[in-house]
Amino acid sequence: MDAAVTAALAAIASASDTAALKAARAAHAAEGSPLAKLNARMREVAPEHKAEFGKLIGQGRGRVAQALAAREAELDAAETAARLEVERVDITAVAARAKVGARHPLTVLQEQIGDIFIGMGWEVAEGPELEHEWYNFDALNLDEDHPARQMQDTFYVDPTARHLVMRTQTSPVQMRSMLTRELPIYIISPGRVFRTDEYDATHLPVFTQVEGLVVDRGITMAHLKGTLDHLARQLFGAEAKTRLRTNYFPFTEPSAEFDLWHPTFKGGARWIEWGGCGMVNPNVLRAAGIDPEVYSGFAFGIGVERALMFRSDVQDMRDMAEGDVRFSEQFGMVV
Ligand code: DAH
Repeated sequence: MDAAVTAALAAIASASDTAALKAARAAHAAEGSPLAKLNARMREVAPEHKAEFGKLIGQGRGRVAQALAAREAELDAAETAARLEVERVDITAVAARAKVGARHPLTVLQEQIGDIFIGMGWEVAEGPELEHEWYNFDALNLDEDHPARQMQDTFYVDPTARHLVMRTQTSPVQMRSMLTRELPIYIISPGRVFRTDEYDATHLPVFTQVEGLVVDRGITMAHLKGTLDHLARQLFGAEAKTRLRTNYFPFTEPSAEFDLWHPTFKGGARWIEWGGCGMVNPNVLRAAGIDPEVYSGFAFGIGVERALMFRSDVQDMRDMAEGDVRFSEQFGMVV
């Protein structure tokens, strides 16, 4: 008995993990172990010694069972602690977050304007920023000595014999669309334009316009006015309105400048000049091979930086050009 118990206790004490303890239990406490075999020999013991024998065996088995339970608890605790240590998450660590940047408000605003027109079934047209002089000027009915063609307004690109300019307006997309698309045409064209302007709070040499062009049968100035009012209300709210003031543009006849009014503009309810517009000049339609007796159209061009200035109260246009992400972050996904 003593030898069996001592061997069992030694095996239990030296079991260094739960698997080893399981093996020790099988060898020293389970069926077939020396202790179990001793217990089975109860049958051979004379009746008057049975009680004493039983007590001895019971004590031995009890000590072994106790040792097993104690060691099991010890090993369990140690193994749980080890696992927790391995799986530990350091919640105090600074997460390695990537800085996501921000969309530029001019981009967001251009897309919002695009969506308003797409919602009416219009299409978005594109044209190149490096443009042929013919599209930028001649096709738009600007004659040879129109002041806008002067070197001091337009970036001409060497060699000048190739007649390439950085487009000064998005209007050249009008002619490109008329030459490549089927009638009727309902397009807008947002994009960058370039002029040899000063770089100051209200001028950028590179800025953004959105051009609009419609050519269809029976188009009148009422359609133009209704379209501009719709754009103004969608972008600035139900109370916004527009008004037209006569002006001159070579590619529209009649032509107008249009202003925007809103009750909550900074500095009080007032009219702010926003863009140019008019009925497409028959000369422009003819240059595109469209019969002005059958078709008519309207066009407009708006400044996106200006819209952002009075929509979001941006005081200095240079903030839109300088690329400081803190400027863009203020706007989020909605301008
Ligand atoms: N392209 C003109 C500008 O940059 C704006 C403009 C005026 C566009 C009249 C138009 C228009 O489409 O019809 O000053």
